[in-house]
Amino acid sequence: MSGYPIVLSQDQFLHRDKLTYPFEERGLQFGDGVYEVIRIYEGKYYLLQEHVDRLYRSVEAIRIDMPYSKEKFTELLHELLEKNDMKADGKVYLQVTRGSALRDHPFPTDTVPNIYAYASDQARNLDFLTNGVSALITKDIRWESCYIKSLNLLPNVLAKQEARENGCFEALLEKAGVITECSSSNAYLVKDGKIYTYPATNRILHGCVRMRVEQFAKDLNIPFIEEAFTVEDIDTADEVFLSSSTAEVMPIISVDGKQVNDGKPGPITRKLQAAYEEDANIVDKKISVS
Ligand code: PDD
Repeated sequence: MSGYPIVLSQDQFLHRDKLTYPFEERGLQFGDGVYEVIRIYEGKYYLLQEHVDRLYRSVEAIRIDMPYSKEKFTELLHELLEKNDMKADGKVYLQVTRGSALRDHPFPTDTVPNIYAYASDQARNLDFLTNGVSALITKDIRWESCYIKSLNLLPNVLAKQEARENGCFEALLEKAGVITECSSSNAYLVKDGKIYTYPATNRILHGCVRMRVEQFAKDLNIPFIEEAFTVEDIDTADEVFLSSSTAEVMPIISVDGKQVNDGKPGPITRKLQAAYEEDANIVDKKISVS
C-alpha cells in the first residue's frame, strides 16, 4: 500500500477521501504554514520527538498557536499508525497552516490552524545507499529563515527539478561560494578524517538526522566541524554525503559530473550509515557492502 486510508485531521481520524479544504486557505494561497516528514521503520517512528520539537519551534517562529500540547499531538501521531495498522517502512507527512480565511495578507482573526497528517509507504533505497548518488551545484536563492520548515518550497522545488533533469539525485545549494545544504537534505564533506558541514544557523534546516550524525561522529571519535565548505573544497574532498529522514545517510559520489575522490562511497560515510542502521533498529534490508 502506498497511501494509508485513515488521515489525521485536527484531532479526528477520517478516511482520506473525506479530507477537503476550501480554496481560500492560507497554506494554499500564501504557503503560510509549516510541515514535517517523519521516517517510519516497520511501523515505528524514528526520531519522532525531534520532529515534534522542531514542528513546535517552526509554528512558534511564524506565530501560529498549536491547539494541542506536544504530548497530545504525539499521541495523535501514534494513533494514526495504529488506526492504519501500519507495519511497513514509510513516512508520515504532516502540515500545519494558519487556517482557512478570505485571501488577505494580514493574519486572519478567529481562524484555527488547519492540521493534517497521513502515512505512506517508502522502502529504503538500498541501491542508492549502497552505491551512492550524483549531485549538481546550484544557487541557494532561499530566504534567511531556512531553520523554519516552511511550506514555501519553490526554490527547493526548482533546485530539485534542475538536479533531476540533469540525471542527479540532489542539488547542493551554493551561497557566496560555500555550500549551505541541499534542496531537501543536509550536506557534508569529509577531509583528512574530519566532517565539515554548514553551522546550524538560520541559513539551513536543522535536520533531525543531522543531529544524529553529529552524535554518531562523537561516538566514533570523528571530528564534526560546523564550518562551511566551499565549492572548490569539493574538488579535493575525500568524501561527500547528505542526510535526511527519507534519504538517511547517503553517499554522494559525483558532483557536477566530476567524481568525488575515487567515485566510491568512503569509509566515514560507511561508518555513519552503520551507526544509523543501528540507531534506527534496522535488522533486515540492510546496506550490503562487499
Ligand atoms: N526534507 N534540509 C532541507 C532543506 C530539508 O527539506 C530537509 C528535510 C533536511 C533534512 O532534515 P531531516 O533530517 O529532519 O529530515 C535538510 C524532508 C525529508 C522533505 O522535505 O521531504
